[in-house]
Amino acid sequence: MITATNGPWWKTGVIYQIYPRSFMDASGDGIGDLQGIIDKMDYLRWLGIRAIWVSPIYPSPMADFGYDISDYIAIDERFGTMADFDQLLQEAHRHELKVILDLVPNHTSDQHPWFIESRSSKDSPKRDWYIWHDGKADGSQPNNWKSMFGGDAWEWDDHTEQYYYHGFLKEQPDLNWWNPDVQEAIFDIMRFWLDKGVDGFRVDVIWHLIKDRQLRDNPPNPDYNDTQSTYNQLLPAYSTDQPEVHDIVRKMRAVTDAYDNRLIIGEVYLPLQKLMTYYGEQRDGVHMPFNFQLLDQPWHAQEIAATIDQYEGALPAEGWPNWVLSNHDKPRLASRVGEHQARVAAMLLLTLRGTPTLYYGEEIGMRDVAIPADEQQDPQGLNMPEKDLSRDPCRTPMQWSNAAQAGFSTVKPWLRVDKRYPRHNVQQARENPFSILNLYHELIALRNKEPALNLGTYMPVHANDQYIAYQRDSPHGDSFFMMLNLTSRPCRYRQNPSQLRKGTVELSTSPELKGMTIGEQIYLSGDEGIVVRLSAEK
Ligand code: GLC
Repeated sequence: MITATNGPWWKTGVIYQIYPRSFMDASGDGIGDLQGIIDKMDYLRWLGIRAIWVSPIYPSPMADFGYDISDYIAIDERFGTMADFDQLLQEAHRHELKVILDLVPNHTSDQHPWFIESRSSKDSPKRDWYIWHDGKADGSQPNNWKSMFGGDAWEWDDHTEQYYYHGFLKEQPDLNWWNPDVQEAIFDIMRFWLDKGVDGFRVDVIWHLIKDRQLRDNPPNPDYNDTQSTYNQLLPAYSTDQPEVHDIVRKMRAVTDAYDNRLIIGEVYLPLQKLMTYYGEQRDGVHMPFNFQLLDQPWHAQEIAATIDQYEGALPAEGWPNWVLSNHDKPRLASRVGEHQARVAAMLLLTLRGTPTLYYGEEIGMRDVAIPADEQQDPQGLNMPEKDLSRDPCRTPMQWSNAAQAGFSTVKPWLRVDKRYPRHNVQQARENPFSILNLYHELIALRNKEPALNLGTYMPVHANDQYIAYQRDSPHGDSFFMMLNLTSRPCRYRQNPSQLRKGTVELSTSPELKGMTIGEQIYLSGDEGIVVRLSAEK
């Protein structure tokens, strides 16, 4: 076992998100694929992660790069074949890595046979599988709902003279989750993959599944500013997070619980109190609703400390925490907090209480890459060009080596590679003991083997406008103390002499600090963080 401590894999281990288009291209067509992931299994194992979550790999017209699925139980030929998938699963398990698939139940592609059937006639047996509605008396759309990706959320269908609802692209019609046949169809799809041995699902936009039955208008958002997506002009009071969504989540959980040791994580962007409801009243919701509390938050020590405490405080009994600092929809850490600070962020992610999800490339400090207008591909960016919302910059090909195309592909990749790949790549970083990659490697290794750092409790110690300090304790008496300077200026923490913590620096963003003992006054330089193993006597 990778982890030395007992506990479910999804609590003790680290989840690594792979965006398959950009991870590794083995077939030489410029697009990453399953064989590429298989080829990198040794690397993933070396990194020390416990599970991979693979963004969608199913057949898709790729209007939203795989989040528009036209067949839920097959593999897109750009990514490989079902045989490749079976091999991936087998190889992953051989490397003691779990495999989490992306389940996208809220919408299909408009090319999915269900939708083709549904739109063929008003009497189609699948008509009610999607959300069809007459226009208003004046012919306008049924209500004011907006699409996440810009513009209105209703599309007129000339043939059957009704509108259909799409919370995302018009190529992504929403399924009607009020319909029990839709529910069963998706549950069967889950069973198909679970039967194969898949270890869990990350459920896409789970809080969108159920919509208001009356399709009432959403209210205007008083806090909207026009740098935001036009979606934010309204508050999605009736189009998302309806109480009945929890019945669906519970059913999904029951499907998963019929198998041993599986996991479902829900993608939920909601305020804290709402987020917590997705654990389910009896902890029968998702095992973990993704915690995005630190994803959009300004990088200020006191605010971060408060957010951590609020999250810890809001968790229901037995609700297991988790942390996400970046993903395929959001800026990369190096671009958000700076390259030096990204090391401190790594330490935060891997020493907080809760399962960390690590986005591919963060471990080598990849940054958002500027993509010129004529190379942009993400529909979110293209549909609202004046707003700078493209997600392309955080989805560029993984930088493996200083070979052409960063070793990602033998041909020009689907999205450009960061020009500085010759000095920012896995090969180079592995050889450099001071690289962020080796910091991640050591942090993950320590987290894997220390019960205090994976299953242990969390206790805030102190925070000011520069740093945060906290402690993790295991039931066996081992303790670690973390102090992270979230600024680029030196800082000092003066311990309370009556509660003095003593110990030795086990890991630091500046490896030179290793072995240092801490005293009453702890000084850190800018962008520095330490993990201190506390000695038994205080
Ligand atoms: C989720 C995915 C995002 C996708 C959207 C629509 O938010 O993370 O990438 O575009 O759902 O499926």
